[in-house]
Formats: sequence, C-alpha cells, structure tokens
Amino acid sequence: MGAADDLLARVNEHGAIPRHVAIIMDGNGRWARERMLPRPIGHRHGMKSVREVVEASIAAGVGVLSLFAFSQENWQRPAGEVSALMSLLEEYIQKEARELDEQGVRVVFLGDLDRLPPVQRGAVDRVMALTAHNTKLVLNLFISYGARAELVRAARLIAEDVAAGRLTPAQVDEDAVSNRLFTAGCPDPDLLIRTSGEMRISNFLLWQLAYTELVISPVLWPDFGRAELYEAILDYQSRERRFGRVSA
Ligand code: FPP
Repeated sequence: MGAADDLLARVNEHGAIPRHVAIIMDGNGRWARERMLPRPIGHRHGMKSVREVVEASIAAGVGVLSLFAFSQENWQRPAGEVSALMSLLEEYIQKEARELDEQGVRVVFLGDLDRLPPVQRGAVDRVMALTAHNTKLVLNLFISYGARAELVRAARLIAEDVAAGRLTPAQVDEDAVSNRLFTAGCPDPDLLIRTSGEMRISNFLLWQLAYTELVISPVLWPDFGRAELYEAILDYQSRERRFGRVSA
C-alpha cells in the first residue's frame, strides 16, 4: 500500500468525509520559476494535479469538488499566458471528457462563460451536456469567476424579480440570494484548501464560505496530489465545527 492509500485508510477511520471540498489552486508560476521554466509549463503540470485530485475525491467519497481554475482578474495577465491557459482548458476537456464521464463525474463550469473564446465555450458546453446525468462526483470548475460579480448578478436578478412583481422585498432572504448564485442547489463547501501557503480568499465563493474550514497547504499546486488532499481532509476532520454556536 502506498502512502496515499495509508492516508485514505486513516481518513476513513478518522471521521466524516467532507461533502464539498473547494480548492484555490495556486503556485503554478512559482513551481515553473523554481525550475527556470516558462509559467505555462507550471499550468500544464497543474492539470495533472487536477486529474489526481478528481480521482482521489472519487475514491474518498467526496460529493462535490470545486476548483478555482481562472478568475475574472486573470484576464488581465499577459496575453500569452491567457491564451496558454485557454488552450489548456480546451486540451483538458478533449483529453478527459470521456474518462470523466466513465468515472461518473458531472462537470459543471461556473462563471462569466460569455467571455470565453468560441472554441472554449463550445468545449465547455459539450462536456457539461455529456456528463449532466452523472451522480458520483460533481466537479465544479470556476472559470472567469469572481465572487463579488456573482453577488452583484444575484442582486440584479432579485431586483428584476421584485420589479416584475414576482417577489416582494420581504421575501428577499438568504435562500433568495443562494438560489441566484452559480452554485444554486449545491451545499456550501465544508473544506477550502489553498495551496502554495497564501492566506487569502481572493474573491472566491465569498457567500458560500461563511462557515467553511480553511486549510492552507504549503505545497505548490503542481506538487499537490492524492496524499496532500487526504492530509488536508485529516486536518479538517480534527476541527470542531460549531457554526457560531457553543460545543455540545
Ligand atoms: C494559479 O497559479 C493557477 C492558475 C491561475 C491557473 C490554474 C490552472 C490549472 C491548474 C490548469 C488548468 C486546469 C484546468 C481544469 C483546465 P499562479 O499562476 O497564480 O501561480 P503563482 O502564484 O506561483 O504565480
């Protein structure tokens, strides 16, 4: 048995598996720089980590895996890096769509998808349609996503419903907001992992993370794999979640 299998056995003994794990995948650039390689090579190695973490999540019985792949702010990176990331996105879908489907993964893309170039938009729509019936794991891939923009969009949708008489101001409650986020119907993350040692939320899931446990891993994303995911889950399992209340 390898180290990751040992860790999975410990995770299974230790406590409940988080239903929803979210990850801010950070450190691809630093991983490349440490090796004197161009940044896109770091992203390419990061794609391997995505594959490994998806498989590890299925093996552990995680229900939803949310990955922050490309932020709204990332559009402002140098054009060469943006186009390398867009090519990788398409390549990921081409290479993995069939296997993800066979593994029972439902792939969902969330964010301002209208900003994607037509080729990527087509690939995204195809893999979502192909895998829509799957139930083993929901893989939420956040692309062109920013949490503040998501909340502004929800506010606008509520305003439209109120203006049209479909909703009264008194009916605007937490569910009214949650139901208008991209993540509508999805449980909030139990665990958020950020790699590369950075201690920031970076405009990811600001509403949904209200009571989420945070684990900061020092490991750069291209080096993050099964063992690191299970270590983060073990850390999560040792926390006492009180949701603002006192202990029993
Ligand atoms: C952060 O590292 C990572 C990204 C902006 C891109 C994440 C993309 C991938 C993991 C590969 C593609 C994945 C899919 C699902 C297609 P950074 O560049 O900010 O690293 P740095 O902080 O060290 O510079």
